[in-house]
Amino acid sequence: MLCGIAVSLFDCSAAGASCSAAAPQTIRIGTSSTELILSVEGGRLYQNWLGPKLCDEQDLPYVQRPGYRSRNGTYLKRSREVAACSGSEDYFEPAWGIVHPDGNRTTYFYFQKIERRPLLDAQGRRCGEQVDILLADKVYPVELTLHYQCWEEEDVFKLWSELRNGAQEPIVLTAFNSTMLYFDAAKYYLTQFSSDWAAEARMSTTELSYGKKVVDTKLGSRANLFREPFFEIGFDREPCEDAGTVLLGEISWPGNWRYTLEVDNNNVLCVLPGINPAASDYTLAPGQVFATPEFVFTLSYEGVGEGSRKLHRWARDYEIKDGHGARLSLLNNWENTYFNFDQNKLAQCMREARDLGVDLFLLDDGWFGNGKDARSSDKAGLGDWEVNRKKLPNGIPGLCAEAQTAGVKFGIWIEPEMVNPQSKLFREHPDWVIMQPDREPYYYRNQLVLDLANPQVQDYVYGVVKGIMDENPSIAFFKWDCNSPITNIYSPYEGPLQGNMYIDHARGVLSVMRRCAESWPSVPMMLCSGGGGRCDYASLQYFTEFWCSDNTDPLERLYIQWGFSQFFPAKAMCAHVTSWNRATSVKFRTDVASMCKLGFDIGLADLSEDELQYCREAVANWKRLAPAILDGDQYRLVSPYESNHMAVNYVSADGASAVLFAYDLHPRYSEPLLRVKLRGLDPQARYLVKEINLMPGSRSGLAEDGLVLSGDYLMKVGLGAFTGAQCHSRVIELECVR
Ligand code: GLA
Repeated sequence: MLCGIAVSLFDCSAAGASCSAAAPQTIRIGTSSTELILSVEGGRLYQNWLGPKLCDEQDLPYVQRPGYRSRNGTYLKRSREVAACSGSEDYFEPAWGIVHPDGNRTTYFYFQKIERRPLLDAQGRRCGEQVDILLADKVYPVELTLHYQCWEEEDVFKLWSELRNGAQEPIVLTAFNSTMLYFDAAKYYLTQFSSDWAAEARMSTTELSYGKKVVDTKLGSRANLFREPFFEIGFDREPCEDAGTVLLGEISWPGNWRYTLEVDNNNVLCVLPGINPAASDYTLAPGQVFATPEFVFTLSYEGVGEGSRKLHRWARDYEIKDGHGARLSLLNNWENTYFNFDQNKLAQCMREARDLGVDLFLLDDGWFGNGKDARSSDKAGLGDWEVNRKKLPNGIPGLCAEAQTAGVKFGIWIEPEMVNPQSKLFREHPDWVIMQPDREPYYYRNQLVLDLANPQVQDYVYGVVKGIMDENPSIAFFKWDCNSPITNIYSPYEGPLQGNMYIDHARGVLSVMRRCAESWPSVPMMLCSGGGGRCDYASLQYFTEFWCSDNTDPLERLYIQWGFSQFFPAKAMCAHVTSWNRATSVKFRTDVASMCKLGFDIGLADLSEDELQYCREAVANWKRLAPAILDGDQYRLVSPYESNHMAVNYVSADGASAVLFAYDLHPRYSEPLLRVKLRGLDPQARYLVKEINLMPGSRSGLAEDGLVLSGDYLMKVGLGAFTGAQCHSRVIELECVR
């Protein structure tokens, strides 16, 4: 979880905190290898540097703002300001747009004070620093606090801002970026991640030239359906796995986000991440504070792979729910039964889960709604979280009892933010639904989005989880789905302040998630959104994992997992073995899912006896190798985007175990097969090379199988792990024998 903040904002009495109202010449904010240097000039705050940490304090006066060199000393006064606002001397994209009560749109922020305090980990040890800088306008009573959290070892920064309206009347916000960061390089390359249902996290790279590149979402909920809230920027060269300077950034927000990348007349790049202001001119009441989402980033000087590993460690140590905890392997019934099940069928699934050796049976959609509102398809029942008595006469307690008999844990699917018009909830509370009062409604998956800006609706959604947990304290897992964007855009709760809707909605969603995580801290929860339509670090503070995609075709999954792995650790990424692309072997499908949090969504009747035996063994291997796969360092070795193969290896934190996953996708006829050079091993140590996850009766064809080789050899010479076969996989364990 988050590092605890020792004291409240600007409380300088607390131990370890230091506070100053005197404007410092330079402000250094940083981690073990990266730093941001700010300066105060004429009371205004500017960025002088963001890059590798500078070693010699005496050099600092000579560090000049990005782009300064080409201006012959006549640079625009405001240039590289840290919190530039609309209506000031800036002619580029501002961080903030503020309309004051008299209609004036200018704001100039001046330094007021700075406070530094240690960031503490869960054990109370210092893991970094938080720096808060207070700025204020001199003419209008608005204050802006810039927050910087920096994790020393992990090299991760989290930046956000809070704007306070000190006026007696409301102000209107028209732009609200979390931060603005400037970079100075010859060339900039953006790697972005497009998305769609069953096509999540697709990577493409483009050079940024003069002007703005804006990537955003306006979907409100299921917000990442078309694009992901994270990106990479390669400086001087395209982002590359093992070399070069690269920024990896993520906007922690489940609603409408936007990132703007602007290259100016001096070829300086400004990165502005935040909430999308589209249809969101936000009215901020007197005395209220507007907090932006957090922007999480790291700078790597050794390519994307190193940046990803830093983010993975940070996410497990400080961000995702139960980041150090174990993860439950599971059997899901969605693709096996869809809506067509009863208690007996589910009891059978639970026995199958046991037979497979997984920890948990997960009951998916279709267990609720009664009579004409029964959930027998996606057309009815959402919102009515009462068990369907016809399908499940003994209710959820009956299923919990069946799970106990079968010897597995029990988990359940919910989609509590949504409602079908065909439901009791909709008939009783039409005012709880985002919907146009006077227009013909349109639907996405036959459903509507509940108005989560409304605290009553938030209580209702929290109550869905509470109701299930109160009745069934043994429930061991939730899958929390969110299948629709916001449609029929009108919030009955916001009334005339419709500009606040998208932002208050996202805040409402996060608030309910937080309450649930606080109430049931040890219950793992999977974030799902019609596949991977919601995956951001704000939500993942309250979830142990997310469902990457409904697309479980193993070939497609290799790309999807490659994409998400740039930002998220394997233990947060759920991957299931299903019947998608039956042309591939069960072994291939399982080996692909074994790279992440392993699950199955298949009936055992679909497996031969050999395949079942293979799966049991694969589950046991995955559990044994969890310290490497789930909690170790990941090295992406061979990209499916750049070859007809893919390879990734993991190394446990203690170095005792490592595992290589090698896949042949569509090799060409007589294609030269390159050896796979591993990474992250101890060059001095010796490793027993053993191919695992073999089908019963088959022997390893790996030339090095059974050999003991040094880390040095494995990293320099590598293994002949690839073959010329189509859709072929190898899982190779490397046991450290010292
Ligand atoms: C979404 C999820 C699926 C499944 C269905 C149930 O599409 O991504 O995994 O839970 O909803 O309706």
